[in-house]
Amino acid sequence: MGVKYIPEPFRIKMVETIKMTTREGREESLKQANYNMFNLKGEDVYIDLLTDSGTNAMSSGQWAGIMQGDEAYAGAKSYYRLAETAQEIFGFEYIQPVHQGRASEKVMFTLLLGKGKVAISNMFFDTTRAHVELAGARAIDCVVEEAKVPSLRSKFKGNMDVKKLESLITEYGAENVGMVVMTITNNSAGGQPVSVQNMKEVAGICKKYGILLNIDAARYAENAYFVKRDEEGYQDKSIMEITREMFSYADTFTMSAKKDTIVNIGGLLGVKDAKKNGDLVMGIKGQCISFEGFVTYGGLAGRDLEALAIGLKEGLEEDYLAYRIGQMEYLAGRLDDAGIAYQSPVGGHGVFVDAAALFPDIPYYEFPAQVLAVELYREAGIRACEIGSFLLGNDPDTKKQLKADFEFTRLAIPRRVYTQAHLDVIADALIAVKERAKEIRRGYRITWEPPVLRHFQAHLEPIKE
Ligand code: F0G
Repeated sequence: MGVKYIPEPFRIKMVETIKMTTREGREESLKQANYNMFNLKGEDVYIDLLTDSGTNAMSSGQWAGIMQGDEAYAGAKSYYRLAETAQEIFGFEYIQPVHQGRASEKVMFTLLLGKGKVAISNMFFDTTRAHVELAGARAIDCVVEEAKVPSLRSKFKGNMDVKKLESLITEYGAENVGMVVMTITNNSAGGQPVSVQNMKEVAGICKKYGILLNIDAARYAENAYFVKRDEEGYQDKSIMEITREMFSYADTFTMSAKKDTIVNIGGLLGVKDAKKNGDLVMGIKGQCISFEGFVTYGGLAGRDLEALAIGLKEGLEEDYLAYRIGQMEYLAGRLDDAGIAYQSPVGGHGVFVDAAALFPDIPYYEFPAQVLAVELYREAGIRACEIGSFLLGNDPDTKKQLKADFEFTRLAIPRRVYTQAHLDVIADALIAVKERAKEIRRGYRITWEPPVLRHFQAHLEPIKE
């Protein structure tokens, strides 16, 4: 079989040396890190797949933009360039830069949510869920059932379950639903896309009940690429046209710009109809000045605004997106050949390996996806991330460990960073772990955990047989 690798539509102008690690050194690093990938030192990692967020390689155009950043405190040229570019792409009147995605959530969610409110999403990313809860509200996931079966190759597995959405709205009462959030692509379900059709249906329901519809837009360009490739009627549309249509159904967006806009830091917030939502815009400005900085820089340097404005356009280039999604397909193709299960079809920013299938005897409360993350590091110095019960945490009432729908080990691929040879190292390492998977029968126990977002800091230890 084998999937053909789509060659890079760029050449390499600058390189960064990475350390070749040893098995002994990696064993020691794991102990020092208390078996938590977030505690590893970056320099002790050979191939870093912890996240595709802020780990992207900027272009020569963006680096040139960095030198031209206008550092004026108020009204910088770079701010206007960014705002105009974003207005053109998304068709939104009000654009607010912030320092990263969770800042846009903190700025806006507290204005729309509070005690007694709920927010419903096709799936909340973990920090997004945390900001709903910090605002005093409850976060409810409402993804289509197909998303929960990794082996089921159906299209648009990131979609909202529209029937369930409507029944949740009736159950809680429309007046108590502070917002509906469409995460494109759906990160927690495996970088799975949302169709325009689904977005339209969700917008129709929101309109019917008078509920605000927000897009969590971190990976909007990858989503548009899937729409063009897989949704009927979109083959002849440009990525820009598809993006614009997708956003035309929403009222607001929050965005981590550290993903599809190919920069290392940044975020955006948008309000489509600024006149109709004057109070919201005023609230956003006030919150932004208090937490992020003046409205024309929002916690970013002028040079960051400039790189972001350029990245917004580069991220929409079709040749780049074909190569980018091609990398995921190549890696997934190698796993298919080796019989390793993952969330399929492969999503937009990484391969989500089904660790529960690889280690069927390790129960969710011993964190099989964490086992695989540790073994990949042990095997080849590859750092991945657990997206399963370890990340999900404990029930807030009973304090008992919750069972996640998936036990994924996410191999997130940074943009324009790794080559085909690196992808082969990753596939070979996974195959090597699979070959000795039967010998690994026990997982990990938590020896210390903080009360909020525990997976970033918790300490773990291997359970001995
Ligand atoms: N929304 C989604 C869908 C995300 O994937 C992220 C971040 C955020 C919001 C928050 O943005 O990190 O800029 O504050 N996801 C990263 C990840 C961290 O690894 O998937 P942020």
